[in-house]
Amino acid sequence: SSTAGLGDALVDWYDTAARDLPWRRPGVDPWAVLVSEVMLQQTPVTRVEPVWQAWVQRWPTPAALAAASPAEVIRAWGKLGYPRRALRLRETAVALTERHGGAVPADVAALEALPGIGTYTARAVACFGHGTPQPVVDTNVRRVVARLVHGRAEAGTARASDLTDVAALAPADRERACRFSVAAMELGALVCVARTPRCAVCPVRDRCAWRLAGSPAHEGPARRV
Ligand code: ADE
Repeated sequence: SSTAGLGDALVDWYDTAARDLPWRRPGVDPWAVLVSEVMLQQTPVTRVEPVWQAWVQRWPTPAALAAASPAEVIRAWGKLGYPRRALRLRETAVALTERHGGAVPADVAALEALPGIGTYTARAVACFGHGTPQPVVDTNVRRVVARLVHGRAEAGTARASDLTDVAALAPADRERACRFSVAAMELGALVCVARTPRCAVCPVRDRCAWRLAGSPAHEGPARRV
């Protein structure tokens, strides 16, 4: 198909161009990955980094965080914003301790059943934390798929087919399939950005359906004048 090799091209690009973020390094514990994903959902990478380092040093396991007081975790959340996330993370740690012996499960359904863990976070932890190839779909990935595969300028609303679209692009190799999910996310964060995509430096520009269609403008709702 026209998308053959696209996934591999994105993984190769990721290996040379991605940011070196501490939670992406090999061997990071699934619990530390879970903490990073909750922090990253509403806070930029640069602000997350120091707080994440402090958290995983202070509470290196779910059991350690479960034993902390709500006041302590709120204080340690610092200025990340939406501090309710700190309390929810502690509740996740309590549930992991009670239901999973303090381990982070690798199974998406088991992860989704935890308090405070939605479908995005469950897949991100399974994939980035445990190395299970799973499509991981956030806003950036949806925009990348909209352009590369569907030739649309922007993603529109989330659909169930987003997951199968991403899975269809992933390389067959298990380990590369997992890296593909973070590669698609990184392309959306660094290159295939919302309003001013940097197509000149895109590793898959020659195979992008949107670009091949002449980069048509977003067909949004009619503008009010
Ligand atoms: N790497 C893995 N997950 C990430 C995220 N949510 N944001 C930025 N980088 C990431």
